[in-house]
Amino acid sequence: MFKIISNTEIGPSVHRLVILAPRVARARKPGQFVIVRKKESSERIPLTIADADPQAGTITLIVQAVGVSTKAIVATPPGDFLQDVAGPLGKPTHLERWGKVACIGGGVGTAVLYPLVKALYEKGNTIYTVIGGRGAKQVILADELREFSKELHITTEDGTLGRKGLVTIVLEDMLSGKLPCPDVVFAVGPVPMMEAVADMTRSRGIPTIVSLNAIMIDGTGMCGCCRVTVGGEVKFTCVDGPEFDGHKVDFKELRNRLSMYRQQEQKALEEYCRVEEQIRHMKQS
Ligand code: NAD
Ligand code: FES
Repeated sequence: MFKIISNTEIGPSVHRLVILAPRVARARKPGQFVIVRKKESSERIPLTIADADPQAGTITLIVQAVGVSTKAIVATPPGDFLQDVAGPLGKPTHLERWGKVACIGGGVGTAVLYPLVKALYEKGNTIYTVIGGRGAKQVILADELREFSKELHITTEDGTLGRKGLVTIVLEDMLSGKLPCPDVVFAVGPVPMMEAVADMTRSRGIPTIVSLNAIMIDGTGMCGCCRVTVGGEVKFTCVDGPEFDGHKVDFKELRNRLSMYRQQEQKALEEYCRVEEQIRHMKQS
């Protein structure tokens, strides 16, 4: 059992959880993730370790409540427990001193970007960070990322913060010379965003690393659930990734696989909301 030390809402339905997990906190490296289960009967949710404090024995996870299982995780108050926090899993980020690195985060993918930015900065790279969301409220971790970034660019689709548009408008400026052109790009966020970034950098030969959020079960390469095709080869996101060469990922296949259980997820969510409503009603009456 893993104790929740704190649970703070940092954006609409996005929570920062600090969890007591001393062994994971000591062993984790940037880019790795854990698989969390709220209860023994719960779905397994892969979550990137956003930060860790080995001395305090804690890890930080940033969780967006989108389905039944993530809603149950973020509803866990401080002092309460999660059944499992298994990890660290996945390959750590490959770190080099490349020079100028553009780190691009879309929406809640910014939470996955944060430990990468920190590690790339500590390796001696100059970081140009771009983060974006639908509106100002969906932009997360701006202050934390500013600390490690030479420049921090913010975009919102509704123009309520930073430049109006998608994160790729800033990348366009980088590639056209209006802003410093990066030697390497890291992109984390929705699949269409990572695909768009990879498409833009491919012809210029700028290495582009993406972090994939495949559906996972065991997280150890046994079940095949997190299968992706990279450069024509089958890879398992949990053991071969989660980071891959964005120019080689079959994004279409990934999109299809991610939408495979959408109907079941929607049904389960409706049932969860119905039961929650009933409980609320009973408490009120
Ligand atoms: P969102 O759809 O609101 O998009 C966030 C931002 O990403 C947008 O504001 C825009 O700047 C950029 N973006 C989106 N589509 C784009 C496109 N086609 N071209 C260029 N830029 C684009 O995202 P959200 O709702 O905050 O995040 C949820 C999504 O992020 C889910 O799809 C989830 O699976 C994914 N996600 C991915 C990871 C990962 O590790 N890759 C981690 C967490 C969440
Ligand atoms: Fe089972 Fe990756 S989650 S093989």
